[in-house]
Amino acid sequence: MRCRKCPKKAIIYMPEHRLALCSACYSPWFLEHTERTIRKFKMFTRRDRILVAVSGGKDSLSLWHALHTLGYEADGFYIDLGIVGRDGYSEQSKQRCQELADRLGRRLHIVRVAEQVGAPIPEIKDLTAREACSACGLIKRYFMNRYALEAEYDVIATGHNLDDEVAVLFSNVLHWNRGYLARQYPVLDEREGLKKKVKPFVYFTEKQTTVYALVNRIAYVRDECPYALGATTLSYKDILAQLEHQAPGTKRRFLDGFYQIRALFAEPEAPALVPCSRCGQPTTAGVCAYCRLVEHVQRRRGLASTSVAAEAASPRSLDHQEPVLHDPGS
Ligand code: AMP
Ligand code: FES
Ligand code: ZN
Repeated sequence: MRCRKCPKKAIIYMPEHRLALCSACYSPWFLEHTERTIRKFKMFTRRDRILVAVSGGKDSLSLWHALHTLGYEADGFYIDLGIVGRDGYSEQSKQRCQELADRLGRRLHIVRVAEQVGAPIPEIKDLTAREACSACGLIKRYFMNRYALEAEYDVIATGHNLDDEVAVLFSNVLHWNRGYLARQYPVLDEREGLKKKVKPFVYFTEKQTTVYALVNRIAYVRDECPYALGATTLSYKDILAQLEHQAPGTKRRFLDGFYQIRALFAEPEAPALVPCSRCGQPTTAGVCAYCRLVEHVQRRRGLASTSVAAEAASPRSLDHQEPVLHDPGS
């Protein structure tokens, strides 16, 4: 098959766009579509400082590379979950992020869960009744927001792609999770201590972000997190892949259709947010879920009494001219 834009051999065919492209024509197409999504949802401008949450995987590293190539001010943010697994999962992921940071000449901020919470994710999983990924999701959201606020970034960008978003939408519709549906959107505006969050890759499939990483020789971790069993999400992805195969463009139409009627799910009044009495981060009541988790972990480890645990959970502020979280670049 030939490239639509030049006589070279195509490396990718995208049935949903009826488009075949060669390796030279692929990146310009991909970058143009990234820019379109950024503009469509008014995600950020070239005056904004962007914190890209990078996991070491293909999506978030491609996102960082693409934003940098498009001339945006984008630094990386890596949360070291302390997962060893096969081949040292977290260590390898961090290395891939650091390699790209060096190549782009941008800063990579690193936060270690074990230092902040008192235990890495596998131990947190054992000490709490939670699934590893539910504690991990809570911790990631917390650190992304806190770091972006303290280091004065304007917006947090994540690498969620079309396949992720459509699988989540499918699940939320199947279970009629109205609260989640109300919040599923590529842009969540800043409010009451919550930084703006954006997903510039919502319209790219996994295949498209993978090809961008390969064409640009971005080294990424191929293994999934050993705890991300995600069997249900994977089975939804299979079903959606079948539908997409039968009618290319189904995923995108499903997602876009939802964005148009999403207002129907808006909660009449979003619960008001107040600063956590320990760490100051926004929460709906009293002590935030993160501080409660830290306290629980530290108590179970017998490391600290409740009051010491509370002290550990309460961060110093950036007013002291010290980053609260570990930052090897500072
Ligand atoms: P996941 O929930 O693992 O599919 O990841 C979704 C997005 O969250 C990724 O594309 C990244 O932008 C971000 N992310 C996931 N894991 C990490 C991590 N360990 N550190 C920083 N960002 C992450
Ligand atoms: Fe959440 Fe692995 S435990 S990504
Ligand atoms: Zn708190």
